Amino acid sequence: MRGPGPNDPCWCGSGKKYKKCHRDRDAEAPPTDRKVRAGTVTPMRAVAPSIPRPSYARTGRPRPAPRIADPADRIARMRRAGRAAAEVLAEVSRAARVGVTTDELDVIAHEACIARGAYPSPLNYHGFPKAICTSVNEVILHGIPDSRPLQEGDIVGLDVTLYLDGVHGDCCATVPVGRVDDESERLLRVAEECMMKGVGAVRPGRPVSDIGRAVEAHASAHGYGVVRSFCGHGIGEDFHAEPQVLHYFEPGARELMQAGMTFTVEPMITVGDERHVVWPDGWTAVTADGKRAAQFEHTVLVTDTGVEILTALPR
Ligand code: MF3
Ligand code: CO
Ligand code: CO
Repeated sequence: MRGPGPNDPCWCGSGKKYKKCHRDRDAEAPPTDRKVRAGTVTPMRAVAPSIPRPSYARTGRPRPAPRIADPADRIARMRRAGRAAAEVLAEVSRAARVGVTTDELDVIAHEACIARGAYPSPLNYHGFPKAICTSVNEVILHGIPDSRPLQEGDIVGLDVTLYLDGVHGDCCATVPVGRVDDESERLLRVAEECMMKGVGAVRPGRPVSDIGRAVEAHASAHGYGVVRSFCGHGIGEDFHAEPQVLHYFEPGARELMQAGMTFTVEPMITVGDERHVVWPDGWTAVTADGKRAAQFEHTVLVTDTGVEILTALPR
């Protein structure tokens, strides 16, 4: 069962049944206020057996992988995986048009990963059923691709992660579908700027908390919220590893950044309140107030002098 059914808890977090709470208001809402509802999810797609797969591909449970011993070799692999993830994200972004379902975007991403000899990292990660996450409008992150066609005025977050050469590359962008309202346009711009402020704060010898400080300052200056319940993460041999990268200022995050570290910066920025609720599918996180959210993500490498973005396309 996905999305609120009549007897499920309402998406707003009130604890009331959906039918006793927001159901009637959702049905009557004008198009711009209409909330996203879950569609149908197709069966999990197979990955050709020739593609090397991460530990959880069969079981759904990740096991920590040994670290690649040679630092230069590890970085070379991270560059290849990061570049490939960025290419797949660009391809999926181009396909995000009015009338296209998020399931169709998933198929494009799935095939684009395999064409590069890569495994789509989300597939069966803790049981996630698809190759990418597609997060529409008030969905903050971890939206499951389904039968819902994109509508004029939607925004959709496309989070692509792939596993290539024994390491993961992870990136996300939120794109407009057709023409979007001014507030959504501003949200997309500021959310991307927030990510780049965070990336710009990456420097060896500085505490990880510098990243969240930079992101939060920019979001606050525009009156936007920063989601606190989900964070960036170390990445490489494992999809999610230490350190945690908070997107708000937490003075306790004292760990120092060091050359050679690889992690993500992936702030989720909200027009309204940053608190979330999770749909009954166990994945889809939406804003509790139903207002829109946008996310951007890069995988980065801490260098001797600053930062290298591993999921940028060459220009
Ligand atoms: N790509 C997401 C991240 O940025 C994680 C998705 S995990 C999934 O960390 F299981 F939801 F796919
Ligand atoms: Co991601
Ligand atoms: Co990530």
